[in-house]
Amino acid sequence: MKILLSGGAGFIGSHTYVELTKAGHEAVIVDNLYNASEKVLERLQVITGKPVPFIKADVADRSAMRAVFSEHKFDAVIHFAGYKAVGESVQKPIEYYRNNLDTTLTLCECMREAGVKCIVFSSSATVYGPLETSPLEESMAPEDCTNPYAWTKSMNERILLDAVHAMPDWSCALLRYFNPIGAHESGLIGEDPVGIPNNLMPFITQVASGKREKLSVFGNDYNTPDGTGVRDYIHVVDLARGHVAACEYLLTHPGAEIINLGTGIGYSVLDIVNTFMRVNNIDVPYVIAPRRSGDMDSYYADPSKAKALLGWQAEKTLDDMCRDSWRWQSNNPNGYRD
Ligand code: UFG
Repeated sequence: MKILLSGGAGFIGSHTYVELTKAGHEAVIVDNLYNASEKVLERLQVITGKPVPFIKADVADRSAMRAVFSEHKFDAVIHFAGYKAVGESVQKPIEYYRNNLDTTLTLCECMREAGVKCIVFSSSATVYGPLETSPLEESMAPEDCTNPYAWTKSMNERILLDAVHAMPDWSCALLRYFNPIGAHESGLIGEDPVGIPNNLMPFITQVASGKREKLSVFGNDYNTPDGTGVRDYIHVVDLARGHVAACEYLLTHPGAEIINLGTGIGYSVLDIVNTFMRVNNIDVPYVIAPRRSGDMDSYYADPSKAKALLGWQAEKTLDDMCRDSWRWQSNNPNGYRD
């Protein structure tokens, strides 16, 4: 298949590029490099051994995207492009709604014009809202989202569900990611957050490398076995393979499917810290800090639909995730800025 990767130079997009190429598909990356580095492209070439088809364009720019769709005949689109910082979305809701909805609408218009009928959307488990009933199943009615970023994911799901309803020959997978961590085992590509990381694993790797003094564990009085928050961490390479499986499925299955991509296993913050220290033989100093507002006790997937429908399940362990995250960080202390 020939697949357009919108936002394909980002963390999940770049790993998906590798897995699509490995599976024999042809992928074209479209990215404005707003939150990604051009260096990713060189690294992808090293990993795959082939030049990387890349077009620098804003996915919300209709004339640029029309040109992309007339130059290439795509079988499917995987749509990653979008702003992704929860806290920033609270400060800049207008920018988040404008960008995250415009990119989807522009892609849909271009797909319709060009006769492309398959789309995989990068959604998030955050659309379930503050549901305290893990494991989360796709059939559960979500609660209200708690920030604009989450609402943009939820609204994009609605847009795509309605589009498929109106065009029944389209096929669409709304992939709800849990907590992606890890990196490609080469140590050449990985997560490269700007500024102080908000998420747990990039913060841990920066503490381990000495860039930050200590980790704050946000709360140890949650209703979980050790009192710290429990999440469903998934290796980004497993997640990427989930996209390959979804694309292949969509080619022969019209209609829309909501699919969780998680492992189904919940680990606590202290599980992550302790595993990271053990497998990498490195210290991660931490303190127990107050709870972070909006966090929940436990949030993990029921991943059985992905297995039944796509034949996909996560294979990598927490040890792999911790090892690969550290290899990326220690080989690239300043991310792609080295
Ligand atoms: N945590 C800490 N210290 C930190 C950072 C995080 O203790 O410095 C804890 C959190 O309290 C939470 C866990 O680590 O218990 C995971 O936190 P993350 O910020 O890594 O991830 P979240 O589960 O809060 O959010 C992630 C993504 C969102 C996405 C959501 C969907 O960041 O974009 O999963 O479930 F919407």
